[in-house]
Formats: sequence, C-alpha cells, structure tokens
Amino acid sequence: MKGIILAGGRASRLYPITRGVCKQMLPVYDKPMIYYPLSVLMLAGIREILIISTPKDTPRFKDTLGKGEDLGIKLNYAVQPEPRGIAQSLVIGERFIGDDSVCLILGDNILYGDKLAQIVQEAASLKEGAVIFGYYVKSPSMYGVIELDKQYRVISIEEKPLRPKSNWAICGIYFYDNKASSIARMIKPSARGELEITDVNKIYLKQGQLNVKLLSRGYAWLDAGTYDSLIDASIFIRTIEQRQGLKIGCIEEVAYRMGYINRSQLRRLSRKINTSYGEYLESIVNE
Ligand code: G1P
Repeated sequence: MKGIILAGGRASRLYPITRGVCKQMLPVYDKPMIYYPLSVLMLAGIREILIISTPKDTPRFKDTLGKGEDLGIKLNYAVQPEPRGIAQSLVIGERFIGDDSVCLILGDNILYGDKLAQIVQEAASLKEGAVIFGYYVKSPSMYGVIELDKQYRVISIEEKPLRPKSNWAICGIYFYDNKASSIARMIKPSARGELEITDVNKIYLKQGQLNVKLLSRGYAWLDAGTYDSLIDASIFIRTIEQRQGLKIGCIEEVAYRMGYINRSQLRRLSRKINTSYGEYLESIVNE
C-alpha cells in the first residue's frame, strides 16, 4: 500500500498565523504537525509516501523532510495548484499509486490510542473496497458524518450536515483499493467548488464496499485547524509525553521500532537534534 498526505489548503481559520507559515508545519507541542500523520502511515507499514501541498509550501516540506532515506522510507512530493478538495489528491497521486492500494491521510489529523499500529496495519491489508474511521464527537456538523444501523453498518454519510444523523464524525484517514483514483475522477465538484472525499466514500458505500471502523472511547482524534484546537492538541501531547516520558508522533522512533532503520542510523539522527527531543532518541539508542 502507498500513502498520501494532503497538506494543502489556505488554513484561513488560522489567519493571521498561517499568512506566512503553512498550517501543517505549525508546532504541535514539540514537533511539526505533519509528523503526526506521517508517523501513522509509518506505523501502518507504509513506506512509500506522497506529500501533496500548495505550490508555495511544497518546497518547504521537501527542505524539511527530504527524500525520507534517513527514516528508511521514500518521500515524494506533488503540488495541488488550487485547494480543490481532498479527493483531488487521489487524482494528483494517480500515477504514484500505480497498481497499488492507498491510504490517504490529512496533514492536520492527529490520532492516538492503544493498538493504533495494529488497527491501521489491519486497514492497510485491505484487498478490495475502502476502510474509513468514525469517531464520536460532540459537534459533528463540521465533519463528514456517518449514519449507522443497529449492527453498526453504515446507512448513509453526509458532508457537514446541518442536522447530523449521529455523533460519528469521519476521521481524515481513508484506506482505498486501486479504484480510488478513477472514482475521484468521476465525481463532480460540490457547492464549495471542491472534490469531496465524502463523495468518493458514497460511491464505495453504494457498491457495498465501504467498511467503517469506530474508534472507541479513550482514543484521541484531534484536528488542529483553529486557534483553540491547535493549542488543545499541543497541551494534550505535552500532558501524555510529560507523564509517560514517551513521545507521540516521533517519526525517528517509529522508523526504528518498525525496523526501517537500525540503531546506528537512529544514533546519527539523535546527534543532529540538540534538544530534549534528541536526548529522547539517544535514550532509545541506549535501551
Ligand atoms: C474534511 C472532510 C470531512 C472529514 C474531515 C476530517 O473536512 O471533508 O468529511 O470529516 O476532513 O478532518 P474539511 O477539512 O474539508 O473541512
């Protein structure tokens, strides 16, 4: 399976912060936001990843993350010229996906919880259809929303409904078989002028191929798209990291624990970072 991180958009809800800096580069406590979705793809066992961003910001991601060889992965880059929707990333990434399946994750989504690696690895093993994730939230209207029957099967999905049929929001991580790009090509832009990922999911649903996994209580699914959610995410990460002394979304640690790099490669990475982050990596080297 290949991975796509969409790190585009205007992030106008974070103006003026994002006038000069791209949202997915903003700090969430001790690391750039994009580390979190990148670490989730890596935990899923995905090592070939395409990062899609704006014409202005794509070079910055390249500068920051490079080709990925330090992490034992392969990073590629592509531009989304205009913010024309999440589903457009499947069209932009069509050649990159090739004959493979794909996991698309949004560059501002933070997922954390017990056995997350196992859950995403299972989803990544899909042969046919799609797997999406639902998360119970107080205010679902700002998300894609899933309606479920008594057996927790999906009846309908709606994008940002005024009267949501449930509290189950759709997380910004989607696993698809090889049909995803051609489906994304078929759909028409919505009223807000975007190719909606919800429309792609609706087609999988119509074909009886949309599987939903509900993340249970205790999971954290955060997005960091507003002033408050940005600082909430930082405080959440800081609270857990300080209490446990274990980091969340630490791509170097994930690379090592997943066996993408060896101890001496991790040591080299740790020596480049002259902060407590580097010390943390050093402590893993010395485990
Ligand atoms: C997008 C999707 C929505 C999903 C959300 C998750 O919303 O359209 O279905 O629930 O991401 O973060 P947007 O970021 O376009 O508001």
